[in-house]
Parts: sequence; C-alpha cells; structure tokens
Amino acid sequence: MILKQKNKSSVLVILGLAASVFILVQCMDKGREAEEPVSFAAYAGAEKCASCHKEVYEKHLQTAHYLTGQPATENFITGRFSENSNGYYYTPDILVKMQKRDSGLYQVIYYRGEEKMAIRKDIVIGSGVMGQSFLNWRNDRLFQMPVTYFTAAAQWSNSPGFPAERVMTDRPITSRCLECHVTYAEGSGGDTLEPINFAKDKMIYGVSCEKCHGPAAKHVAFQTSNPEVKTAKYVVNPAKLNRQQQLDVCAVCHGGKMQKLKPSFQFTPGKNLADYFRMDQVQDVSLAGGEVEVHGNQYGLLRKSKCFTASKMTCSSCHNTHENERGKTEVYVSKCMSCHPAGSATFKTATHVQVKAVETECINCHMPALESRAIAVHLQGEEKPRAALVRSHFIGTYPDVTKKILNNKK
Ligand code: HEC
Ligand code: HEC
Ligand code: HEC
Ligand code: HEC
Ligand code: HEC
Ligand code: HEC
Ligand code: HEC
Repeated sequence: MILKQKNKSSVLVILGLAASVFILVQCMDKGREAEEPVSFAAYAGAEKCASCHKEVYEKHLQTAHYLTGQPATENFITGRFSENSNGYYYTPDILVKMQKRDSGLYQVIYYRGEEKMAIRKDIVIGSGVMGQSFLNWRNDRLFQMPVTYFTAAAQWSNSPGFPAERVMTDRPITSRCLECHVTYAEGSGGDTLEPINFAKDKMIYGVSCEKCHGPAAKHVAFQTSNPEVKTAKYVVNPAKLNRQQQLDVCAVCHGGKMQKLKPSFQFTPGKNLADYFRMDQVQDVSLAGGEVEVHGNQYGLLRKSKCFTASKMTCSSCHNTHENERGKTEVYVSKCMSCHPAGSATFKTATHVQVKAVETECINCHMPALESRAIAVHLQGEEKPRAALVRSHFIGTYPDVTKKILNNKK
C-alpha cells in the first residue's frame, strides 16, 4: 500500500517535473526566437575601440587577423608590381600581369602580348604570411581572381585549385571565404545559409575585435555616455566563458570543414557553435600517409592531442591573439614547459637526452610544419604544385620528423 502511494506521488513528481522542464524548454526556445538577428548596425568597427583600448588597438593593427580580408590597397598587398616580377605565364602565350592604374590595382590578361581583359583587385584575402588571394566585385557578387601571391617563393602564381593552362576569371565565391577572413558581411539576398550577394558598404573587414568580443556598438555607446562606469557592459570577454565556448570563439574559423546549420555570421561569442555547425564532423586526424589537412583546422587537430584531453587547455593556453607572436619560439616553448618542466624525471626520455638545447626544438618535433593540401599553388615552370607549410596542432611524436632533426643536430 505504502509503496503504491509512494509510486503515485513520485509519478506525480515526475509529471510535474516533466511539465516544468517542458515549460522551461518552451521559454528557452522563445528566448532564442526573440534573440535579435545579428546585423551590420550592431557593429562599431575597430577604430571605435581605439579611444579607450589604445594599446590593444595599436597592436591589433600588426596582427595577421587584422590584415587578412582588407580592401585591396597597396599598403595591404605583399606582392610586387614592378616590371619583371609582376607576371605569371600560364602558357608561353598567356600572361597575367599585376598593374597599377589610376582606378586601382589590376590583374591584366595578355594573349600573345595583346591585352584581353583587366580585372580590378577589390579585396585581398590573406595577410601574406603564406600568401594572398584576391576578390573582384561585379555588382553585388564577388569572384576569386586567377593569380595568387605565394610568399614562400616570393612569386605570383596560379590560384589554388584553378586550372593550370587556362585563365579562369569567373569563379564565384559564396560567403565562405568571407566567413573566415572578415568579421561581418551582410548578404543582400536575404538571410540564406550561404549568401552569394553582398551589401558592399556593410562589411567589417579583417578578423577584428568584434569577431572575438561580439558586436559592440552598444558597448561603445554605453561606455561613451557613462564614462564614470568602470565596469564593462554589452561586450563579451572570452576569458569569462566556459571552456567549450572559449574554444568555439576560435573554432568557427579554425575548425576546418564543418557542415553549416545556420548562417555563420549569426554565430557570435558566447553562443554555442554546435547550434551553427555539425561539430562532430570536425575532420579526424589520420597521420598515416600525410593525410593531415592542416588548413584552418587547428581545433580539430588539437582536440585529438593528449595535451588537450588531459588538461583544461584552450587556444589561449599558448596564444595571445592581441599580439603578433609569429616566430616567437621562446614564448611558445615557455608555454610547453609550464606544463612539462624540463627538469622533471619524465622529461628525460630517450630522445630528449640526445638533443642539445632541446627547448629550441620542442615545437619542430611535436608540432611540425606540414604541407597544406588547400593552399598549394602552381609556380612558373614547376610541374607539381607547391604547398604552404602549416603548423600541425596535433601535438604528438612524429618519428620521421624526429629522425631528421636528430640527424641535423649531429
Ligand atoms: C568609451 C570607452 C570605451 C570604448 C569606446 C570601448 N570600450 Fe571596451 N571597455 C570600456 C571600459 C570602461 C571597460 C571596463 C574596464 C576594462 O575592462 O578595461 C571595457 C571593457 C571591455 C572588455 C572586457 C569586458 C569584460 O567583461 O572583461 C572588452 C572585451 C572590450 N571592452 C571590448 C571593446 C571593443 C571591442 C570596443 C570597440 C568596438 C570597445 N571595447 C570600445 C570602455 C570602452
Ligand atoms: C573570423 C575567423 C577567425 C576567428 C574567429 C579566429 N581566427 Fe585566427 N585566423 C583566421 C585567419 C583567416 C587567419 C589567417 C590570417 C592570415 O595570415 O591571413 C588566422 C590566423 C591565426 C593565427 C596565426 C597568426 C599569425 O601571426 O600568423 C593564430 C595564432 C590564430 N589565428 C589564433 C586564433 C585564436 C586563438 C582565435 C580565438 C581566440 C582565433 N584565431 C579566432 C581566422 C579567424
Ligand atoms: C582573435 C580574437 C580576438 C581579437 C581579434 C581581439 N581580442 Fe580581445 N580578447 C580575446 C581573448 C581570447 C581575450 C581573453 C584573453 C584571456 O584569456 O585572458 C581577450 C580579452 C580582451 C580584453 C579584456 C582585458 C584583457 O586585455 O585581457 C579587452 C579589453 C579586449 N580583449 C579588447 C580587444 C580590442 C579592443 C580588440 C581590437 C582592437 C580585440 N580585443 C581584439 C580575443 C580577441
Ligand atoms: C573555415 C575557415 C576558412 C575558410 C572557409 C577559408 N579560409 Fe583561408 N584561411 C583560414 C585560416 C585559419 C588560415 C590560416 C592558415 C591555416 O590555418 O591554414 C587561412 C589562410 C589563408 C590564406 C593564406 C594567408 C596567409 O598569408 O597566411 C589565403 C590566401 C586564404 N586563406 C584564402 C582563402 C580563400 C580565397 C578562401 C575562399 C575560397 C578561404 N581562404 C576560405 C581559414 C579559412
Ligand atoms: C596546459 C598544459 C599543457 C601545455 C601548455 C602543453 N601540454 Fe603537452 N601534455 C599535457 C598533458 C596533461 C599531457 C598528458 C600527460 C603527459 O604525458 O604528461 C601532455 C602530453 C604531451 C605529449 C605526449 C603526447 C602523447 O600522445 O603521448 C607531448 C609530446 C606533449 N605533451 C608536448 C607538448 C608540447 C611540445 C607543448 C608546447 C607546444 C605542450 N605539450 C604544451 C599538458 C600540456
Ligand atoms: C600547446 C600550444 C598551442 C595551443 C594550445 C594552440 N596553439 Fe596554435 N600554434 C602554436 C605554435 C607553437 C604555433 C607556431 C607559431 C609560429 O610558428 O610562430 C601555432 C600556430 C598557430 C597558427 C598559425 C598556423 C601556421 O602554421 O602558420 C594558427 C592559425 C593557430 N596556431 C591557431 C590555434 C587555435 C585556433 C588554437 C586553439 C584551437 C591553437 N592554435 C592552440 C601552439 C599552440
Ligand atoms: C628531436 C625531437 C624532440 C625534441 C626537440 C623534443 N621532443 Fe619531446 N619527445 C620526442 C620523442 C621522440 C618522444 C617520445 C619518447 C622518446 O622517444 O624519447 C618525446 C616525448 C615527449 C613527451 C612525453 C613524455 C612522456 O611522458 O612519455 C613530452 C611531454 C615531450 N616530449 C615534450 C617536449 C617538450 C616540452 C620539448 C621542448 C622542451 C620537447 N619535447 C622536445 C621528441 C622530441
């Protein structure tokens, strides 16, 4: 009897709970629906941050994030325009030359010396660390241009994935390049998953402050009209988010190929990336046969690493994205050694004891620079495409790489 009573009441409790969960979920769904879609008006632009965050702003202008995805003016372009180093021959008959003209910077196509077509560079994609590709506006659509600058060889080259012996001038781009190379672009053809038409004057160039801190026009307005308030409102500090959300801030662009569920520009820091992308599709690591796709997939690789699974590591464990830290090996090594002190007993492995000044090479052995499959270009007179090198974020041991480094050290 008593048992039955108890059962009845627990059924009631469960029903009650289920009902309140249902109501809660409904409310949350409503809350989500009520969330305003992100639009251009919500952004302030990095220049607006300078007055109150001067130091961060000035350093930001030196970062690859800022430089990537800018209007194609001379100060953002790495490659040369001077005669003899400004061309790329597709065939002995077909030459594309970089030229400065009154109305801008152009890629000019010549057939047997005769000008056939001139295309203006409107947007430059890439800071030039590895290379730069260019986009051209035709009305409200963007097209990728045939010639790309490849920094490692200091040469103009055929754009990655373009045909080898024919100049391709009509490769449209969707919002995809922009999603990772600018902060915000507004589709002009409605709120589709991957727009192809854009409002030219509604773009926040570069990977700017507000990509990592959320649209901040309201923050600027509030702090400006309330200068006595010393705490922040209406802005996201990633350090205050949970671990996955912190990773999400970066993974939206550094998560490799993921299936999109909602428009990428609607994702902002503090939201869950899994609501916008199928995260379980983050590419797996398969080290066999050099099958690592390192282009833009630092998150996918890192999360397969022991360092990541056995600690609370985020991207900020090694990176301060406010500064340009490229090539500062000592900064990175100090991060490794904060978790793996060189004096410890476990550090004295068979390999480590053989290497002089082991700390100068940690990264080269455990995070080697590998060939990108996505950024590979045809250089003048070379049969095979040449790939850019990208630092693998699968932190592990790479026997072939170790062997090479040990041999070089001898
Ligand atoms: C009128 C001054 C002012 C302007 C302009 C301004 N901020 Fe702030 N911001 C503040 C103040 C005050 C704080 C709180 C003190 C602090 O953390 O520096 C703050 C804090 C922050 C924080 C840390 C928030 C936290 O919770 O820890 C971020 C991130 C931030 N601002 C980003 C931005 C960005 C991005 C811009 C430009 C779009 C910007 N701010 C423009 C005044 C300003
Ligand atoms: C909007 C997309 C986007 C977001 C968000 C983003 N990045 Fe990047 N990041 C890029 C692109 C694109 C590049 C390549 C820039 C270039 O060289 O052209 C890059 C480059 C970098 C680099 C190399 C810098 C250098 O000097 O070469 C580091 C490190 C990096 N990102 C870390 C991060 C971290 C950490 C976060 C999160 C806090 C983050 N990124 C968020 C797109 C993004
Ligand atoms: C690629 C992402 C990224 C970009 C771009 C970026 N920040 Fe940050 N910012 C972060 C992260 C991550 C943190 C938290 C760092 C940590 O974990 O302590 C942060 C922290 C801050 C803070 C809190 C105080 C501090 O310095 O830690 C302020 C203020 C801030 N950023 C302002 C800016 C401004 C202004 C810009 C542009 C001029 C900018 N940020 C660009 C990622 C970014
Ligand atoms: C998923 C995000 C993502 C997409 C989509 C994307 N990129 Fe990138 N791109 C990156 C990241 C991250 C890097 C930095 C190097 C790396 O990690 O491979 C990069 C690097 C580059 C570079 C070399 C920049 C440099 O000098 O360091 C170029 C050029 C480039 N991308 C062009 C493009 C073009 C053109 C498109 C569209 C067809 C595109 N990217 C689409 C994320 C992306
Ligand atoms: C936030 C702490 C942290 C940082 C930073 C860190 N690691 Fe680790 N790492 C760990 C932990 C925890 C493990 C797993 C336990 C162990 O083997 O010590 C690990 C494991 C490893 C392993 C063994 C991997 C395997 O598959 O067996 C290597 C190699 C390694 N780390 C190298 C590095 C290098 C190189 C750096 C710097 C680029 C670094 N770690 C930075 C925490 C960290
Ligand atoms: C254990 C330390 C560590 C962590 C954690 C880490 N990185 Fe890196 N990252 C490095 C090192 C070392 C380099 C090479 C820097 C250099 O060559 O100057 C690098 C380079 C990069 C580059 C430039 C790629 C290239 O080859 O030019 C990008 C982009 C990047 N990291 C993004 C990220 C993102 C996003 C995360 C988080 C998902 C992350 N990193 C986490 C250590 C780390
Ligand atoms: C010449 C290449 C090389 C260099 C340089 C190197 N390692 Fe290693 N490391 C290895 C190899 C190979 C192993 C696997 C064990 C072995 O064969 O000694 C290893 C193992 C490890 C491990 C796992 C140890 C364990 O618990 O089994 C960690 C952590 C590690 N290295 C961190 C570092 C750090 C941090 C640095 C820089 C201070 C560094 N390594 C420099 C090649 C290298």
